Amino acid sequence: MQDVKLEHIVSLAKRRGFIYQGSDVYGGLSGTWDYGPLGVSLKRNIMNLWWTMFVDERDDMYGVDAAILMNQKVWQASGHVDTFTDPLVECSNCKGRFRADKLEDPNKCPTCGSEGTFSKPRAFNMMFKTFVGPSGQDELTIGEAMEGAPDTHKLEGMHALSYDPNAISYLRPETAQGIFTNYRNVVDSFYPDLPFGIAQQGKAFRNEISPRDFVFRSREFEQMEIEYFINPEGWEVEFDAWVAACKQWFAALGLPEGSVHELEVPAEDRAHYSKRTIDFEFDYPIGREELMGLAYRTDFDLGNIQRVSGKNMEYTVKGTNEKFVPHVIEPSFGVERALMAVLCSAYREDEQNGEKRIYLALPEHLAPVKYCVSPLLKNKPELVAKAREVYAALKKRYGAVMWDDNGNIGKRYRRQDEIGTPHCVVIDFQTLEDGTVTVRDRDTTEQRRVNYENIV
Ligand code: GAP
Repeated sequence: MQDVKLEHIVSLAKRRGFIYQGSDVYGGLSGTWDYGPLGVSLKRNIMNLWWTMFVDERDDMYGVDAAILMNQKVWQASGHVDTFTDPLVECSNCKGRFRADKLEDPNKCPTCGSEGTFSKPRAFNMMFKTFVGPSGQDELTIGEAMEGAPDTHKLEGMHALSYDPNAISYLRPETAQGIFTNYRNVVDSFYPDLPFGIAQQGKAFRNEISPRDFVFRSREFEQMEIEYFINPEGWEVEFDAWVAACKQWFAALGLPEGSVHELEVPAEDRAHYSKRTIDFEFDYPIGREELMGLAYRTDFDLGNIQRVSGKNMEYTVKGTNEKFVPHVIEPSFGVERALMAVLCSAYREDEQNGEKRIYLALPEHLAPVKYCVSPLLKNKPELVAKAREVYAALKKRYGAVMWDDNGNIGKRYRRQDEIGTPHCVVIDFQTLEDGTVTVRDRDTTEQRRVNYENIV
């Protein structure tokens, strides 16, 4: 895995229809990525696996899907309006802007090479601000809108176009707040026993100063988050249980043992709400970097909601009068970083019959295509007809099945290897006689003859 370069992954992802640069045809939009047909399948397989493991298979978990746009008070109460910032410096020579804490040399501009030209760092808020409804900022400037208008109308126009501060909203920078704001609703509807969790998957947006390293640091990405509500007594036990659950998740993703590391985040580096954080880091080709985080968020969020909204966030322990605001353990998973770790772990190069081969040794449950079906020769109608029959049966059974009759068999195998298809099924003349097909294994390239009905 140490030999895997980021360029290999980016190139394969584009060539084979996993991930493309966002808005590519217009020169791209920095920090945005589009998923192609295979990428969307891989991403969904990862997200569905997560939902199965952490929601469906547990009896202490509730799912929600909250709106991305939320009342601005959410982000005031959570502290994001005031503190969700990164330190920004600007080079006075080339006007390049950089994240101060990520500069290789804090005195030298990485774009123009000037030294000592950086401004003092200022706190740059990473939330994307927007305006809800027609009381927001118009696309036209006041000057443009009022061009040629009589003076008497200008004042009226200015008034109409000035925006209402109450219309401000933000694209959510984390999915977590959509969980906290629904905590009371879920408790009132289901009255679960403590501890219990609420899970959500969905888009998050951050106006990163320097998006970089493929999908690793994007401006639009997806999170899978759980807020696990607990009695604060014994939070350490719950925290440890989540460390173990995260490790099971890494194994289910097929990440090699030893490739994920726990970093105990020191107090001065923790988010404003956290009393303990472990970052799980993965050995990416770009170095050891954060894959996901696990934080003890105390009652910071529910406490703030209670204070700002005036609504009671206390939980009453069943059969007693004991009431308290629950504390929270939060495992926060990034989809893109999981997907990138999966691709890096699966990427392999070897030699077959003297030729270099690239393949993705994806776990079968994550592979975008499970089976590829081919007739040995595409100009033999009887083979094609039989292959279509096998294809239809496998597709009905597995869904993610591909038909490929382009080029020779060797080329078809190479194509499927590169996208991580575990099994290639070929229909030949013997199939017509005895109903057996060859099934080729992606990793070993070994072929077996089996009755196709057995696979179905
Ligand atoms: N609710 C807690 C929270 O959002 P975070 O550490 O800021 O915590 C959680 O983010 C996870 O989201 C990260 O571990 C990472 O997997 C993912 N993530 C954060 N920023 C990202 C970005 N710009 N691009 C891709 N993934 C990101």
